[in-house]
Amino acid sequence: MTSDKLLFPAWLNRVWPLVGLFVLGAPVYGVVLLYLGGSPGTTDVGYEPVQPVPFSHATHAGKIGMDCRYCHTTVEKAAFAAVPPTSVCMNCHRTIGPDLKDLEPIRRSDETGDPVHWIRVHDLPDYVYFDHSAHVTRGVSCVSCHGRIDRMERVYQAETLSMSWCLDCHRDAAPHIRPKEQMTNLRWNLAEDPEILEADARALGERLMRELGIESSVDCSTCHR
Ligand code: HEC
Ligand code: HEC
Ligand code: HEC
Ligand code: HEC
Ligand code: HEC
Repeated sequence: MTSDKLLFPAWLNRVWPLVGLFVLGAPVYGVVLLYLGGSPGTTDVGYEPVQPVPFSHATHAGKIGMDCRYCHTTVEKAAFAAVPPTSVCMNCHRTIGPDLKDLEPIRRSDETGDPVHWIRVHDLPDYVYFDHSAHVTRGVSCVSCHGRIDRMERVYQAETLSMSWCLDCHRDAAPHIRPKEQMTNLRWNLAEDPEILEADARALGERLMRELGIESSVDCSTCHR
């Protein structure tokens, strides 16, 4: 009909399928994006707030070699990995560096009883359920999620903490499972040949997963409850 030709020029007949694909494709693309968790808010890699006291993990966990659990006492028992109260610092700093200027806020906190207001680095949205004990008691090391904290003068976010990041490991956890005794040893297994290492780590992880019956789930209700 001639009226059709007036409304839709002939070239459109050829592109119609493409337009259709685009219109139908948009929601599919959206769902895929959602599925991959690619929202911009999730990639705060490198976020490194200045803390009220220049506390250094490189000094305490690296140089002095303190175990993470000396300070993050609940990490194996609870969902939350508590940041230590002032009294824990004072165990040593009553006698070590009592005049250090950097420790002034700690001494004040000890005198007044007001806690130090540490600034949170890692923070998931409230609609996500996360549990430290579920991971560290199965042999997933702090280093898989927080990087080399024992080398950081100031803590920064090493991973995206996005949904796709969680799912990547939940789909294939074997390379991240290690003997539980090595959970807080961030240097463990850093050999010279990364290729051999990778194969070894996977084989060991697969064996541990079988032995312990570990099966990380990707059901939505695992993390959204
Ligand atoms: C001497 C006590 C102490 C030890 C030992 C220690 N930490 Fe911490 N950690 C702290 C304090 C205090 C903070 C809060 C200030 C900051 O972020 O630096 C903190 C913060 C953190 C954070 C960031 C928390 C947030 O706000 O998101 C992570 C992750 C962390 N520690 C992991 C570790 C790991 C892994 C180890 C062992 C390798 C470890 N810590 C050893 C005291 C300690
Ligand atoms: C097991 C003992 C011990 C505990 C517990 C401890 N520290 Fe220390 N801290 C040390 C030692 C030892 C040094 C000196 C390190 C050096 O100079 O080699 C030090 C140094 C420091 C310094 C000086 C800067 C630096 O990194 O050298 C600050 C600031 C500090 N600590 C803060 C804290 C805070 C805050 C806490 C509690 C979260 C804490 N410390 C817990 C032993 C401890
Ligand atoms: C499977 C990944 C994973 C592992 C393993 C892990 N963490 Fe975390 N950690 C996170 C995430 C995600 C958050 C943010 C949690 C939130 O916002 O609810 C976090 C937060 C923290 C915090 C801030 C307080 C809190 O609980 O929110 C500290 C301290 C911490 N982690 C220490 C550790 C230490 C120490 C270890 C090893 C003993 C460890 N983490 C192992 C992922 C992990
Ligand atoms: C490096 C690997 C790794 C990463 C990254 C990881 N997980 Fe896990 N997760 C595991 C393993 C392994 C288990 C243990 C499964 C089991 O017990 O069978 C687990 C268990 C859990 C559980 C407990 C499930 C239950 O039934 O009790 C929750 C909740 C969870 N993960 C949430 C998260 C969230 C949210 C993130 C991202 C912020 C995340 N995980 C990132 C490996 C990982
Ligand atoms: C292993 C943990 C885990 C599982 C399983 C999981 N999610 Fe998520 N999800 C997350 C995390 C972490 C975020 C937060 C990402 C961020 O900070 O924006 C998230 C965010 C979301 C959001 C918010 C939009 C966005 O992208 O930020 C939606 C919607 C969502 N998830 C739906 C689902 C659905 C549907 C499923 C099941 C197919 C699912 N999730 C399974 C961890 C998980």
